[in-house]
Amino acid sequence: MAIDKKSIDQFVNITSKAALASSYLVGKKDKIAADKAAVDSMRSNLNNLDIRGQIVIGEGELDEAPMLYIGEKLGTNKGPEFDIAVDPLEGTNFAANNLPGALSVIAIAEKNNLFRAPETYMEKISTRVNEKNVIDLDFTVKQNISNLSDYLNKNPENLTACILDRPRHKEIIDELNKLKVNLKLITDGDVSGALLVTEEKYNVDIFLGTGGGPEGVLAATALDAFNCNFQGRFLFNTENDKARAKRMGINDLRKKYELNEIVKGDSIFCATGITSGDLVSGIDIQGNDFISETLVTHKSSGLKKVIKLKQNL
Ligand code: FBP
Repeated sequence: MAIDKKSIDQFVNITSKAALASSYLVGKKDKIAADKAAVDSMRSNLNNLDIRGQIVIGEGELDEAPMLYIGEKLGTNKGPEFDIAVDPLEGTNFAANNLPGALSVIAIAEKNNLFRAPETYMEKISTRVNEKNVIDLDFTVKQNISNLSDYLNKNPENLTACILDRPRHKEIIDELNKLKVNLKLITDGDVSGALLVTEEKYNVDIFLGTGGGPEGVLAATALDAFNCNFQGRFLFNTENDKARAKRMGINDLRKKYELNEIVKGDSIFCATGITSGDLVSGIDIQGNDFISETLVTHKSSGLKKVIKLKQNL
């Protein structure tokens, strides 16, 4: 069944309000306060919706997150049943330091259709080319670049790869350099980084590397609507991580997940800018109004666009 188009406006409103709440804390050097403002707003506004929602990706498990914890039920308990994934403030450093790219993000699918991702790292790879065996997490960087270069009929020096700038990516980055691939190194925000493959205007051909698992599932929802390719594999480094994975029903800890195993059926994705970035502009307060920009996708209707809204404060 498809998710009613009416729901789109509701969820755009949720991320717009959360982005506004967080925007008051931009540049205040307080990641926790900026996050809390977005969380509080998102939770209270989700609770006003006529939905039977359940958080599958949130701020953590009940013992570590009093709000928007995995398993929390949201809404008035009337209406459609949804799985909900949230990242009320994606890019806490960006917001705290008034840097580009802070977003408020939500993804919705029908009940039991969105992967419950543990709070652990995930290896990720994504491109706009939705063809099997062009890119793959199990291929070497060299193989992936060579395949993509053949498929797109572009030399590696005309390809751009987006990756988080982290010491753990040294080998990948060295290899990309050796292959003369252009780099777009991001300091944070790999939901946005992954989504740069969706349209040619962003000039990114491949996104790869290890980032947050929850962020991987959120990005995958939008990538699905854009008909892009995505694969993810969780990294469970500690015994605690492994035990948590087992509790969440993950038995094969090295499994490579295809996009259609992460998100199934219909979905809605909304990402509102808190500070301006590659995908959307940040919150702009003008007198008694605020202007928000939200990247929205709705899989079944094919909607993929940035919605600009002017609302009263
Ligand atoms: P926060 O908003 O929670 O600070 O996450 C930012 C982020 O850059 C994510 O986009 C990314 O998935 C993750 O952190 C990477 O983690 P790390 O900083 O540990 O490499």
